[in-house]
Amino acid sequence: MIKKITLPAGTTFQSDMVRIDPTTFENHVDAQPFAIQHQLQQHPLFQLENLIELSKRLPRKQREYVFSKQEFGTHEDLEHYKHAADNDELSTDELIQAIEHQNIVIVLRNVESDSVYGQFVNECLDSLGEFVEPVTGKISGRESFIFISPPQAYTPYHYDPEQNFFMQIRGKKQMAIYDVNNRDVLPEEALEGFYNEGQRITNCSESLFEQYQLFEMNPGDGVYVPVTAPHWVRTLDEISISVSINFRTPSSIRRDRVYRMNRMLRKAGLRPRPVSQQANTWSELTKSALLGAPATMKNLVRR
Ligand SMILES: [Fe+2]
Repeated sequence: MIKKITLPAGTTFQSDMVRIDPTTFENHVDAQPFAIQHQLQQHPLFQLENLIELSKRLPRKQREYVFSKQEFGTHEDLEHYKHAADNDELSTDELIQAIEHQNIVIVLRNVESDSVYGQFVNECLDSLGEFVEPVTGKISGRESFIFISPPQAYTPYHYDPEQNFFMQIRGKKQMAIYDVNNRDVLPEEALEGFYNEGQRITNCSESLFEQYQLFEMNPGDGVYVPVTAPHWVRTLDEISISVSINFRTPSSIRRDRVYRMNRMLRKAGLRPRPVSQQANTWSELTKSALLGAPATMKNLVRR
């Protein structure tokens, strides 16, 4: 029998629930991952039973149930992401059983749309924004995703379009992050395809597969993942809960625009230069200014 956790009236988040050193952020943003610390594992909102309840009240399109069948080190295949939609009808207890015993991963997307969790996302980013924005400029596109995974779940090599503060709430998780600036790991043409058509390559070459920085996270640990830094993730021997806080910065929006402009130039027979990490050279600022809002961003689904 699952014991329900009742949220205290007026539940709020302390500004120090996520601790990130401002100088470290300034030195790593858009370039390198770094470890962060938080206390979210102590908060009732992130207990498994309350997250299952959240999954039941989110719109269907924001909750995803997938089978975790992928063997570690293998490439993505369709079977791994086959939806397990039948689980939508399960009770909370049954769903928790399914996570552990049927290898079901639950991904809760855009939890900021929920009034309670939205308060968390806003308070968290308001607090972080005090030192993030002086470095990056105004942040936008506030989002949060929650991942509930069974033991031995593996998410293969991929990359995402947003800035990401990723935090481990329950269980142990390993995240391997590749050098965001290594175009052998993630070729320039692949990034152009990602920003224009939402296409992802599903692995780097075998000789580079082990060239990552490994972050081993227990509850209370987290990591900053730069925009489009390739990574893979796996859980260890117990159910894992993780939450990502995502946002966009002027640099991440410029990169989207410049990759779209470069595609147009390439189609016109030109050979545009590779995009710099912050897309802030004179020509990139010009290209960015020539394009409007990053329309493709809405279509780039993160994992
Ligand atoms: Fe990811």
